[in-house]
Amino acid sequence: MNDASPTILLTGAGGQLGRELAAALSACGTLVACDRRALDIADPAAVKHVVRRTAPQFIVNAAAYTAVDRAEAERELAFAINAHAPGILAAEALRCGATLIHYSTDYVFDGTRTTPYDEDEAPHPINAYGASKLAGEQAIARSGACALTLRTSWVYGRHGQNFLLTMQRLAAQRDEIRVVADQHGVPNWTRAIAGATASLIRRGAADLARHAGLYHVSAPGETTWYEFARTILADRPVRVTPITTADYPTPARRPVYGVLDSSRFARAFGIALPGWKQMLTECLRAVEEPPPVLPVN
Ligand SMILES: NC(=O)c1ccc[n+]([C@@H]2O[C@H](COP(=O)([O-])OP(=O)(O)OC[C@H]3O[C@@H](n4cnc5c(N)ncnc54)[C@H](OP(=O)(O)O)[C@@H]3O)[C@@H](O)[C@H]2O)c1
Repeated sequence: MNDASPTILLTGAGGQLGRELAAALSACGTLVACDRRALDIADPAAVKHVVRRTAPQFIVNAAAYTAVDRAEAERELAFAINAHAPGILAAEALRCGATLIHYSTDYVFDGTRTTPYDEDEAPHPINAYGASKLAGEQAIARSGACALTLRTSWVYGRHGQNFLLTMQRLAAQRDEIRVVADQHGVPNWTRAIAGATASLIRRGAADLARHAGLYHVSAPGETTWYEFARTILADRPVRVTPITTADYPTPARRPVYGVLDSSRFARAFGIALPGWKQMLTECLRAVEEPPPVLPVN
């Protein structure tokens, strides 16, 4: 083991967060970045093979089933990827003495609160995706591995499928976009979450072992999807119209309030994400720089 230049195994490297992690973590040690083709985390034998061959000091799991609506019909698949697979990764982390960093979601909550959720608040998911992510958190906690589970919300960036890119695409096609205005939460830029993860890894495994557990990692403040859309499209000639959740029925119910209180994370690690508007401004200005994805095979 080399704490100054650890080996880091990244899963889900082709996802929106995974791509930013691949860029950020390549400066933290020897990165083995696996997209889905290189490592299907729902294949326990493949997970065991890759972890044992790589012998990492850190495993960063950005792989997930994130199709919130489809998860209602594909519950079993969502649980295989979001619940069972993190348990296997955690068991392998324990076996090889690695620290696992995993991501979860505000959708573990039912959204009935009106003030930010801290980590002690009892989760109560209201859709299959949220239930599968909660089961993943619990599998990791039960494993006994040294693990940090980072819950975040409304993730967006310059890659993949997310609200920012959807709004920009629709603005180019339509005169009016109708956006839900009664769901409250906080948008978080993939690059900021990846930067926070890199800062954690730089602290070293021994330090993280003292702080293992569950954390909320989100920007301060709060907004609605409607306000987020208006801010994204401020300089575009498109009309953004507020609608209610009832006007936009979806297969999966969404929590109407998902603001996460990140003060435990700030106290433990001295890391706080910038305000969501500042992150959005930086994201819109950021130069596209596709990070390398290095398959292990
Ligand atoms: N997106 C959000 O708004 C949001 C909000 C809160 C928390 N989170 C959490 O943040 C983390 C990162 O999410 P994200 O937004 O980056 O999602 P994403 O863009 O959908 O990325 C997930 C990646 O995982 C891959 N994947 C799916 N099944 C896999 C499997 N069996 N084995 C290996 N890779 C697999 C996907 O590949 P394919 O594309 O080929 O399926 C995709 O590249 C997740 O834990 C998610 O739950 C996300």
